Amino acid sequence: MTVLIIGAGLVGSQVARILTDAGERPLVMDQRLQREVLAKIVDLGKIDLIEGDVLRPLTLSAALARGNITAIVHTAAYPLLTLGAQKNPYAAIELNIMGLANVMETARIHGIGRVVASSSSVLNRYQSGGGDGGDLSREEAVPRPNTFYASTKQAVESIGLNYTKSFGIEFAALRYCPVAGPWSGPGGGGPSGIFRAMVENAVNGREAVVPGTAMEWVYSKDAAMATVQALRVASLGSGVFNITMGRIFEPAELAAELARAIPGVQTRIEAQPPGSTWSGGDWKPADISRARKILGYEPQYPMPRLLDDYVAWYRAQVLGS
Ligand SMILES: NC(=O)c1ccc[n+]([C@@H]2O[C@H](COP(=O)([O-])OP(=O)(O)OC[C@H]3O[C@@H](n4cnc5c(N)ncnc54)[C@H](O)[C@@H]3O)[C@@H](O)[C@H]2O)c1
Repeated sequence: MTVLIIGAGLVGSQVARILTDAGERPLVMDQRLQREVLAKIVDLGKIDLIEGDVLRPLTLSAALARGNITAIVHTAAYPLLTLGAQKNPYAAIELNIMGLANVMETARIHGIGRVVASSSSVLNRYQSGGGDGGDLSREEAVPRPNTFYASTKQAVESIGLNYTKSFGIEFAALRYCPVAGPWSGPGGGGPSGIFRAMVENAVNGREAVVPGTAMEWVYSKDAAMATVQALRVASLGSGVFNITMGRIFEPAELAAELARAIPGVQTRIEAQPPGSTWSGGDWKPADISRARKILGYEPQYPMPRLLDDYVAWYRAQVLGS
């Protein structure tokens, strides 16, 4: 059994690492392979790498024709996620939606039985409307995503679920919340970059800026483990799963955790500008009970362990100390 991983970034790299740790040899495809960055996460001698664009169905088809691929993990998305899609909606719509459509259609043609795709917890949050008393004969009964990125992820979920219904391809859409984790090149979303700068500044003795809003995080290793669990569970069927740490961190709590992990660190909590995409509103942790029950997901990296692991990786792999 070989898994094709599309997108070798913050999450895809960890999926590759978990599979190689288990003795598998995944095929990893990315449009812009960051080999040196990837090598700090996974042994490149234990994976097969191809440069390829998910928007080119023939490239995808050629990857699947390499043989013995039984499942696909699809993590490619338009760079900088919400921020990127707000700046370049057309390109994000094309990549996020048509990328998934290409994956599903190629899977159908090649007889691939299972696809695990990345969705996002933005769908738990960036929604508005949902009125008309839930009466579906009326226009505003359902809430609608209110960012371009969330709109694309809604399409990803719906299209994937329909491929199960019509063609029997098992499909999971994993709603990761903002992902923090080891990565030393471009990648991840806005919050991933803010978390990364916070950790790197703290380790290097500079002021660490803590995002000034309550946030729910997930470690990239936990996001990747859930992804692998969705590959392995005997009967996946189709479904959408929240993949988060299961709790929210207030800015002061995060600053305190950082101070514990890196004694002597100087922190500053940065207020979010009004109207910022991730400030304000009710903030409730995602319910991860379905992922627990069906995938066997259990977050292994609560914030203290996340920070210790991340800091150790950064010191060893980036600073070489
Ligand atoms: N990082 C987060 O905070 C977060 C949160 C929720 C959901 N997600 C979702 O998880 C998935 C993975 O996110 P990530 O943080 O690993 O992102 P990332 O940017 O680190 O990795 C995505 C990878 O996809 C590649 N890619 C982009 N366009 C491509 C194309 N046309 N063909 C092939 N590869 C292409 C990029 O080069 C990159 O290496 C995405 O779908 C994202 O929407 C991420």
